[in-house]
Amino acid sequence: MADTDGTMDELAVTQAGNPGNPHGEFGEQMLERMNRSHAEVTNWALDQLEFKAGDRALDIGCGGGATMGRLASCIEAAGGMGHVSGVDISTVSCETSRRNNEEAIRAGRMDVTQASVESLPFADGSFDIVTTVESFYFWPDPERCLAEVARVVRPGGRFLLVADVYRRPDLAEDVLQNIERYDLTVLTPEEYEQLLREAGFSAAKAHLKDGTTWIAVEGVR
Ligand SMILES: C[S@@+](CC[C@H](N)C(=O)[O-])C[C@H]1O[C@@H](n2cnc3c(N)ncnc32)[C@H](O)[C@@H]1O
Repeated sequence: MADTDGTMDELAVTQAGNPGNPHGEFGEQMLERMNRSHAEVTNWALDQLEFKAGDRALDIGCGGGATMGRLASCIEAAGGMGHVSGVDISTVSCETSRRNNEEAIRAGRMDVTQASVESLPFADGSFDIVTTVESFYFWPDPERCLAEVARVVRPGGRFLLVADVYRRPDLAEDVLQNIERYDLTVLTPEEYEQLLREAGFSAAKAHLKDGTTWIAVEGVR
């Protein structure tokens, strides 16, 4: 749908760009917008984690790459010299993440690989911290994918699953319609915690932010 000035409105760009596997020009536009619109929930969620100098971090479903930059800043603030990897199933997401983190990639402090969470191209225990922001909704077979995530987190390392909506009785009608339209996996805090434990995390805790529908589920390997 075009606005009166001929540009596509936000919903139309999202529908054309496909948030579950961004493609084409609208996919790129949508990822740049999400880099901004997901900033607040991502920064709140990353505040739940403790970083240390030299941390190796992975962002799954890295989209436009802003979370990778935020992870690098957190490691930098803790003393620096870490490494941040990103993976995404979409070619456009990988290209956008690479473009937005060009300098760090050239300096060898970041890398981006096209892959699905179903089969991560990393050895067991490769990461101190693994995050995923607004991506879990789309994963096939959540329990098997979370077991694959657990595999690449080192013993004692952390996983943070971030979403701006979790299942609760008072969700607005338009939110419920979106869940249905994109066939999103949206669980209760208790269901997330149980799923993480079943997938191989020794402990799991859901952080909720008052006055929002945001959730950050933290798993300890
Ligand atoms: C809604 S976007 C969010 C992007 C970014 N994390 C952000 O917060 O702006 C969801 C991203 O998850 C990726 N994704 C979906 N399914 C995936 C899978 N099975 N493995 C890896 N990435 C996946 C999509 O390609 C897309 O880039």
